[in-house]
Amino acid sequence: MNVRELPIAGRATPEGRRIDPSLDLETEIGRLKKEKNAVILAHYYQDSDIQDVADFIGDSLQLAQEAAKTQADVICFAGVHFMAETAKILNPGRIVVVPDMEAGCSLADGCPPEKFRAWKARHPGAVTVSYINCSAEVKALSDYIVTSSNAEKIVRSLPADKTILFGPDKNLGAWLEKRIGRKMELWQGSCIVHDTFSERKIVGLKERHPEALVVAHPECEEPVLKLADYIGSTTNILKYALASSKKEFIVATEPGILHQMQKGAPDKVFIPAPPEANCACNECPHMRKNTLEKTYLSLRDLTPRLEMSEDLVERALLPIERMLSLS
Ligand code: 13P
Ligand code: SF4
Repeated sequence: MNVRELPIAGRATPEGRRIDPSLDLETEIGRLKKEKNAVILAHYYQDSDIQDVADFIGDSLQLAQEAAKTQADVICFAGVHFMAETAKILNPGRIVVVPDMEAGCSLADGCPPEKFRAWKARHPGAVTVSYINCSAEVKALSDYIVTSSNAEKIVRSLPADKTILFGPDKNLGAWLEKRIGRKMELWQGSCIVHDTFSERKIVGLKERHPEALVVAHPECEEPVLKLADYIGSTTNILKYALASSKKEFIVATEPGILHQMQKGAPDKVFIPAPPEANCACNECPHMRKNTLEKTYLSLRDLTPRLEMSEDLVERALLPIERMLSLS
């Protein structure tokens, strides 16, 4: 399917799970968090009203670190499936709920474990480094997990004589190869959102906003990264934009992050990098499946609940722990 045809679907509240229309959801979510000793961990790509009720907002690494140290009985993970899986792997004894269990990821979906296993088998003796945007099964087949904020440090620490298999994001992999000066075998996956930004339109925006800096996520394709003044994880992009003395920024990542940018620097102008087509396909159709209503329902009913086999949790834990200790 042409990725540009993807609608932001699945935002309707599930049938049969009625919400009293007189309720103030923000207040109710606050009450449920106390009652159930629950914590909401949210990614920057969530709707702004979800970010505003979250206890912690962060990039993939920070969310994993926060999950590793929480004492809450219930983790409501406002993000996508692979992130909630990571939280569950780190907390097998706690309840992990996700507002919408269908919130997936094109990178994780594009890397089926059986194909990944076959790829590994074709490269005996190689070290396998997987971006955290993959399924728990793929994590279990990996030596190291990385995120966009620690991938460079972790890959640099690997022995020079080893072949590295890096998956599933070829754009992040190619960016790392350039920064580190080391070739890797790259899995040919990519993010449908970061693939969509238009080099041509960003060039046009730069002409109209000559003072603006371009900030980009390393999941973007190379022509877009070439236009960037700064490349980093969502948290690092946010920190860079807030600390900069410049006033205008063209932001080449999912526009959910603009909420924290605008909150942190109300006097600055943040322009979302446009997609090539006239669509909203720079919004992640997976992340945006979660809504405030579904977040409320997940806390009220403690469902949908993420369950994983003990065996998978055990197998996927080691490469995640290696990442946390190297971060
Ligand atoms: P980070 O928040 O780690 O930069 O990841 C971005 C992303 O695409 C998450 O799916
Ligand atoms: Fe996956 Fe891309 Fe959505 Fe992140 S933005 S969850 S990488 S599809």
